[in-house]
Amino acid sequence: MSQVFYATLYGSTKQYADALAERLGTEAQEITRESASLIRASAADPIIVLSPIHGSFIRGAKFLNELGPAVVEKRKVCLAPVGIALDHVLAETDPAADLLGDMAEHVKRVYLPGRLNYSELAPDHHDIMETRIEKMKAKDERSENEQMMVDIYDTDVDRVDLSRLDPIVEWAES
Ligand SMILES: Cc1cc2nc3c(=O)[nH]c(=O)nc-3n(C[C@H](O)[C@H](O)[C@H](O)COP(=O)(O)O)c2cc1C
Repeated sequence: MSQVFYATLYGSTKQYADALAERLGTEAQEITRESASLIRASAADPIIVLSPIHGSFIRGAKFLNELGPAVVEKRKVCLAPVGIALDHVLAETDPAADLLGDMAEHVKRVYLPGRLNYSELAPDHHDIMETRIEKMKAKDERSENEQMMVDIYDTDVDRVDLSRLDPIVEWAES
């Protein structure tokens, strides 16, 4: 049976993780300090880790680094980072690859569109975003992604689309 792990701050990644786990007939487990001990190192079943992207930090990639190559290279592993950046930008820049280093070739990456509700952000997160957006606004020329981020600043955007889990289900069941 597949093992589904997730991290979340505002719930969108949990939404994906719960829906995925249900489709795979299992239960999603939030990543904690004890999660590594729940990994069945010898089991042939897939491990799927879902996690938000926060700048250059992806909690799910940190978790896979904690498991290390001894587990990651032996098991079938997928990392699904959830972000608000444009789909094609996430796919092309593949920010998880760098964080996984040599393990990247053993980890399938599937980027999922997330949710960014400015109305519910904690003040420190709102400040981080404000600083980033101010820098983007100050530029003479912005990338397509930067322009999108400027356009959605201080609004609520929900791009969660559970049908985007289809390729992960197919991969897990293949
Ligand atoms: C402080 C902060 C930084 C973020 N940085 C990024 C980012 O660098 N790239 C990205 O695509 N999304 C970024 N996001 C968007 C989140 O990853 C996205 O909203 C995700 O769906 C949140 O997951 P959660 O609801 O499970 O917490 C950021 C969100 C916050 C609050």
